[in-house]
Amino acid sequence: MTHAKSVKPTKAKAKLPKISVKEYKKIVFLGSEAAPFIATGGLADVLGSLPKELAKKDNLDISVILPLYGNISDEFRKEFKFLTNFYVSVGWRSQYAGVFLYEYKKVKFYFIDNEYYFKREGNIYGFYDDGERFAFFSRAALDTIARLNIYPDVLNCNDWQTAASIIYLKGMYYGDENFRRIKTVFTIHNIEYQGKFGMETYADLFGFPDSILSFVECDGLVNLMKGAIEMTDIVSTVSPTYAGEIKYPFFAHGLDSVMRRNEHKLVGILNGIDTDYYNPKTDKSVFANYTVSDLTGKSVCKAELQKMLNLPERKDVPIIAVISRLVSHKGLDLIKDIAERLLTEDVQLIILGKGEIGYENYFRYIAESYNGKCAAVIAYNQDLSRKIYSGADMFLMPSKSEPCGLSQMIASRYGTVPIVRETGGLNDSIKAVVGDTGNGFTFHDYNSGDMLYVIKQAIEMYKDAAAWKKLVERVMKTDFSWKKSAEKYEEMYNK
Ligand code: GLC
Repeated sequence: MTHAKSVKPTKAKAKLPKISVKEYKKIVFLGSEAAPFIATGGLADVLGSLPKELAKKDNLDISVILPLYGNISDEFRKEFKFLTNFYVSVGWRSQYAGVFLYEYKKVKFYFIDNEYYFKREGNIYGFYDDGERFAFFSRAALDTIARLNIYPDVLNCNDWQTAASIIYLKGMYYGDENFRRIKTVFTIHNIEYQGKFGMETYADLFGFPDSILSFVECDGLVNLMKGAIEMTDIVSTVSPTYAGEIKYPFFAHGLDSVMRRNEHKLVGILNGIDTDYYNPKTDKSVFANYTVSDLTGKSVCKAELQKMLNLPERKDVPIIAVISRLVSHKGLDLIKDIAERLLTEDVQLIILGKGEIGYENYFRYIAESYNGKCAAVIAYNQDLSRKIYSGADMFLMPSKSEPCGLSQMIASRYGTVPIVRETGGLNDSIKAVVGDTGNGFTFHDYNSGDMLYVIKQAIEMYKDAAAWKKLVERVMKTDFSWKKSAEKYEEMYNK
């Protein structure tokens, strides 16, 4: 379905002059969350901003298909337009699907409605029947495409929740000419979560045919991510470094040989962030707005943050911030290792996040023991996170693995200098300070001593106010917008 835009068919045999017209393309994204409708992690940021950036190009027609969760706010819902409904096969079951449309910044968002699967209390994942919920969604999305006759040139699925769509498309819908023409991209945001289910679900729940067993099976289980990797046309992931890393066992959570075998179709494209949404000049959550040419507001943000968290209001002491899900791959063990040594220095440490109970308790304990030097807020809090991004001086993110990571980019946007481990997207976005170059502090090995060493370098540099200000300016000027990366996505689609 590639239309050469505005070139009229001609009967004449004469040679046509070469004109470069960008091919008109329809792209459909599939995902389990997207900002501003529903967000629990980085995937939502990406699906809330990449489609919007691509839709700015008039040769691209962009849609996103999402589940209609009960917790999507009425503020959006009241604008939704009902389009159609039908029944979807989930193994032997037949389940209702309604389809709603909402157009937002030139992107068409289609929402799949089924209250039994998606109107639930609390979080959007973590239910005993997640496999069934997303099998339904993956299949309903394809049926929506057929019903509404919106067959795209490229279907871009994201993470395990939509992996089954690629398996259905390539393994079961292939007889249909309209589906056969669709090329697929499977984007891995984190290879750790693969969508693994017992073999009894293979036909009963997913309704997969025997012919594709070797693609979908892995270590005696149904593995949706593996199936999608094997069957898709292109696999992409969210940074070039991570694309290299997932060929190795340390990073691949059992899929390294699958990645190596599919290396020829693997692409790594660094995510961007929505620089309008994350903008210290206009952000309503921060204590004072500021820009790179006038940083006065940032000092106000710092003082107010210290006041709010009961830390001494001091300009001369650097604030080191950690904003993270409290899970092991975020490198929190390194922080645990050196926290008490770090707190003997003249610094303030702020932690915001929630997650595994062991980490939550540790950070509560350290904040109590070092009252006046360390503050921990065990929560997920967007508003407070903005106050910390803007009020802190340094942002610590020592991940063990990090497919892309967005927090280091957000921190940079607010002039808070990243200190990161050189892995995945952290390695691609943050370059170590050397003389007048670099936009952060980095260390290579997963080792707390090395991390403490570079933190101390940062603290040392902070004492030289002029040098630090220059660094902050450089950090703020680093371009993390989607512009460059969206070009790369378009190139990939053109392949
Ligand atoms: C996942 C990854 C994170 C990435 C995000 C968006 O949450 O863990 O590194 O930035 O997806 O792609």
